[in-house]
Amino acid sequence: MNKLETIEQVRKYVGEARKAGRRIGFVPTMGALHEGHRSLMRAARAACDEVIVSIFVNPTQFGPGEDFERYPRPLEADLAACREEGVGAAFCPSVAEMYPPDSVTTVTVSRLTEGLCGAHRPGHFNGVTTVVTKLFNIVQPDVAFFGQKDAQQAAVIRRMVRDLCMPVEIVVCPTVREPDGLAISSRNSYLSAGERAQALSLSAALRWAEAQVRAGQRDVESLVREMRRQIDAAGPCGIDYIEIVDADDLRPKAVVEGRCLIALAVRIGNTRLIDNMVVEG
Ligand code: PAF
Repeated sequence: MNKLETIEQVRKYVGEARKAGRRIGFVPTMGALHEGHRSLMRAARAACDEVIVSIFVNPTQFGPGEDFERYPRPLEADLAACREEGVGAAFCPSVAEMYPPDSVTTVTVSRLTEGLCGAHRPGHFNGVTTVVTKLFNIVQPDVAFFGQKDAQQAAVIRRMVRDLCMPVEIVVCPTVREPDGLAISSRNSYLSAGERAQALSLSAALRWAEAQVRAGQRDVESLVREMRRQIDAAGPCGIDYIEIVDADDLRPKAVVEGRCLIALAVRIGNTRLIDNMVVEG
């Protein structure tokens, strides 16, 4: 497994793979790799001849007071995980490599980034779309893999790729969960045992709502009200949002009809957790 640190090294590596006619799969990450990331690497391995993973904690997608400094960076374990999953190269650039000090160009996706997490993390999606565009331009993958756990991110990237005619296919893989239902996230490592137990209320409320929709409930307001009650009842927390939106264009729904996304973000202690489920009304 090759560890690449510069854009030039990636271009050379990718150039050779292309010359050999290899289909390139790309998994962008911020490291602290877990089962969710591994599932993306496996999907990439199954669909492509060559898999490239990026490991870069992107400063521009963190707001002031967020967890950029304390975000876990277990680089050696991450490289071992890439090796185990049959990844060909891990791109681990420095901040200076990705952002020359006089950078003045960003990529903005409007409307889809305004609600849900975008409303609570100003500038976050600008950081994501800018770094993902740069990574796509560096790696030039045929296919890129993202997790459904970050549903808004996936919808925003899909739309960006379509709107800007980027020659890359986007594959979104299912959320990977612990056996008790907790969505796997690098940020779960911040949770104390008590907070982790409380965090199960998020997936439980989503499962409850999913069952209600299956049973015929369509009223968004009453679904959200009861989910909020269940999550509040599990312990002290700050609910940033619980919303039901169209799964593709993320517009808020009043009635569950078509493919809808039930999405939530909740702060437990100092940890902000997100989770979601797609339902069909
Ligand atoms: O999902 C993530 O880990 C990040 O937002 C991404 C896509 C790697 C961009 O920094």
